[in-house]
Amino acid sequence: MEHTTCTLNRFVIEQQRNFPEARGKFTELLEHIAFASKIVNRETSKAGLVDILGLTGHVNVQGEEVQKLDQFAQSTFFKALDHTGLCACIASEEEPDILPIPDHFPCGDYVVTFDPLDGSTNIDANVSIGTIFGIHRRVSTGDRGETRDALQPGRNLVAAGYVIYGSSTILVYTCGGSAGVHGFTLDPSVGEFFLSHNFIRTPVSGSIYSTNEGNYQSWNAPTREFVDRLKTKDNPRGKSYSTRYIGSLVADFHRNLLYGGVFLYPSDTKDPSKPTGKLRLLSECAPLAFVCEAAGGKASTGYKRILDVEPTELHQRVPLIIGSPAEVEFYEQICAKHSKG
Ligand code: AHG
Repeated sequence: MEHTTCTLNRFVIEQQRNFPEARGKFTELLEHIAFASKIVNRETSKAGLVDILGLTGHVNVQGEEVQKLDQFAQSTFFKALDHTGLCACIASEEEPDILPIPDHFPCGDYVVTFDPLDGSTNIDANVSIGTIFGIHRRVSTGDRGETRDALQPGRNLVAAGYVIYGSSTILVYTCGGSAGVHGFTLDPSVGEFFLSHNFIRTPVSGSIYSTNEGNYQSWNAPTREFVDRLKTKDNPRGKSYSTRYIGSLVADFHRNLLYGGVFLYPSDTKDPSKPTGKLRLLSECAPLAFVCEAAGGKASTGYKRILDVEPTELHQRVPLIIGSPAEVEFYEQICAKHSKG
């Protein structure tokens, strides 16, 4: 398919033909997500020019200062979806509870979990930031969506993806499995996403690792051993790795997905039975794990496949190691070795 003429809409419609039972609802949902990302892109690209930088003075459920652009992104995505009749509810990283569909709008079968603007502490420094989204089918059967619709393991996702607002704006999504992972670059001159990365496959092994080594002292022993060995020849590569860390998950993940390598935000306790870490399962880790696995990569807590972690609360955090299989498996082997004592 000619990349320069294949829009996101055309691509999804043609993909839809592979699913005879499809009613076009998913195609419509992705279009609304893409539309919202164009609006967010417009604001992020001129954030320095209008009074949208800086903090709102509000604090989100994570206890983090909410940037104005965070709030703008969240309301933009919610308003793009709330009236469509496609969603039963929406779960945002910025909100303590699910965002129900207003009573005056119909409910649909989909549930969207998302981080409206990940990496937002980087906004004022003009560093690439992103939106992460996961799409589930609802499990509740009542009139309106319920929290349990969002509390599903990543293996139940029907689709997931992200938008990176960087030197160009790229939307990457997958329906999982053999459907492949595909990237679309926004041409701002026509306001359309065009197919630019068809069937993305992540390299089996990479030469990059991404982590905040400032946290080294709070890492457990397996994590320290893993990173120490990446700096030697005693690793899958047989020579030392390069470190690249932007501090914006979507940007670090996207680079590693294309080039190969591994990102980790490990547990910050010394007790692996209490997996914590900074990143949220539902709005960050599970959607990116779904994309990564569909591209041939792996995503783990070090002890468990991310997509198999059963959520118990909306803002549950998990340790994350994600990227090329060789490096993720190397980390898991080290974790297992330490667990044997
Ligand atoms: P925030 O959205 O508050 O900027 O957090 C970003 C996340 C994620 O994007 C990134 O990988 C990680 O936090 C960076 O955390 P550290 O600054 O602790 O390394």
